[in-house]
Amino acid sequence: MNQQKLKILFVSSEIEGFSKTGGLADVARGLTIELHNQGHDIRVITPFYRTIEHRQTAKHRLDLVLNTDYSHVNIHFKVHEMHLDSIPVYGIDNPYYFDRQGLYGEGNAPYLDNGERFAFFSVAALIATDALDYTPDIIHCNDWHTGLIPYILKTRYKDHFRFTTTKTVLTTHNACYQGIYEKSSLNILPEISCCMDDRVLQSFDYINYLKVGITYSDKINTVSPNYASELLTELGSHGTHHNFLSRKHDFEGILNGCDYNDWDPKTDKYIPKNYSAKDISGKALCKSGLQKKLGLAVTNAPVFGMICRLTEQKGFGLLIPIMECFLKHNVQLIIIGSGEPSITGQLDSFAQRYPDKFKFINMYSNELSHMIEAGADFFLMPSIFEPCGLNQLYSLTYGTLPIVRAVGGLKDSISDYDDDPGNANGFVFCKTDPLQLLNLLRRVILLYIEKPDEIERLKRKAMRSHFYWSDSVKHYEHLYFNALYQQSNW
Ligand code: GLC
Repeated sequence: MNQQKLKILFVSSEIEGFSKTGGLADVARGLTIELHNQGHDIRVITPFYRTIEHRQTAKHRLDLVLNTDYSHVNIHFKVHEMHLDSIPVYGIDNPYYFDRQGLYGEGNAPYLDNGERFAFFSVAALIATDALDYTPDIIHCNDWHTGLIPYILKTRYKDHFRFTTTKTVLTTHNACYQGIYEKSSLNILPEISCCMDDRVLQSFDYINYLKVGITYSDKINTVSPNYASELLTELGSHGTHHNFLSRKHDFEGILNGCDYNDWDPKTDKYIPKNYSAKDISGKALCKSGLQKKLGLAVTNAPVFGMICRLTEQKGFGLLIPIMECFLKHNVQLIIIGSGEPSITGQLDSFAQRYPDKFKFINMYSNELSHMIEAGADFFLMPSIFEPCGLNQLYSLTYGTLPIVRAVGGLKDSISDYDDDPGNANGFVFCKTDPLQLLNLLRRVILLYIEKPDEIERLKRKAMRSHFYWSDSVKHYEHLYFNALYQQSNW
């Protein structure tokens, strides 16, 4: 392995500890900390949202301006410096774009100018990098929000001394979200509003930010090997397979790691009793603590947990049709998360009808998430698609057996009990068929009742499967070196 230490600019629209709506934030944190641990000079750039943590202690570093040709508007912005451990995190502060209640929208409605907001963020990130006198070897972009960066580098900054040797990498965390915007609304970046490249146009008038990133980055990856192979197919790519196929030789899947500093039952500060694979007895106290906290009876019934954004992606179209049958069994089910009103409405109505068996907490809570990971016996992820999934990794650490659909990163990380009882770390079903899910849940309930020792053994075994960021980082380093020293076919 090449021992060269790199200068890496990591650009992300969210980062755990600063701002978060989903798994991207966890990865932005875990991956950058590990790259830093490996000795690379890594810096992070992110929007300075109203709700950003560390706002009070952020240090004002720069006053900058984006000059636009369009009606001679100059967009002023500030750069503030914060820290993640000792990694510099620069916040791009423009109140018009980022001093808002939400990151991407309010309620369930996205901000109408998200295209302009993240076009601004992308170019501001490059202006800030130059002004900070930082010359990155690699600019690591994440998802559609930063998809324009490789294009801006290859157009506006083509001959700029700062970036002559800089290469770009784009990680797709979820190809379902592509950022499709009307070009004419992007006057702040004329090179975008004039772009005529078929590969990135959704139609004559609309540009697809994710496709821009896929097309113009030097190397691209996604967050599991199996999702990478799905993205090369029409069925699994959300309409982006032509783009991924044309970059096949520059594209790979790298499984996310798990941040064991945050997710470890031995040290977790949110749970009633710490425990480990050697002595799992504390888990029973976590279970009763969770039941009490949520007003469920403290019984030995199996507890199933689910923590996620409430979207179709997460498999509610499979779960909701069988809820009635499932809740007839002696089980307890806990779902926590916020999202689409059509899903929350149905879950609310089940919660009213089955108050002794089903609790639905319609919000995001870090503390409760930890309590559920520790207190549940099983963790449900019947996703329709799942680029990587992180909760199944957290669940394994807590000895909470994942029940997943064989898709994306879930397929790469969870193996089924019936296939290979000795090596399994969970339960897996395949088809997008509610009855398959119901059958699997019944199989799990039976095993729980008939073979409690086997369940204990499986829990301990699950706790011993590890997904270290240090392993994923080796693949990222390889990707960076390939971007730097190998020809790309963009
Ligand atoms: C997105 C994906 C999820 C992945 C996460 C981090 O939230 O939906 O599967 O684990 O990004 O990469």
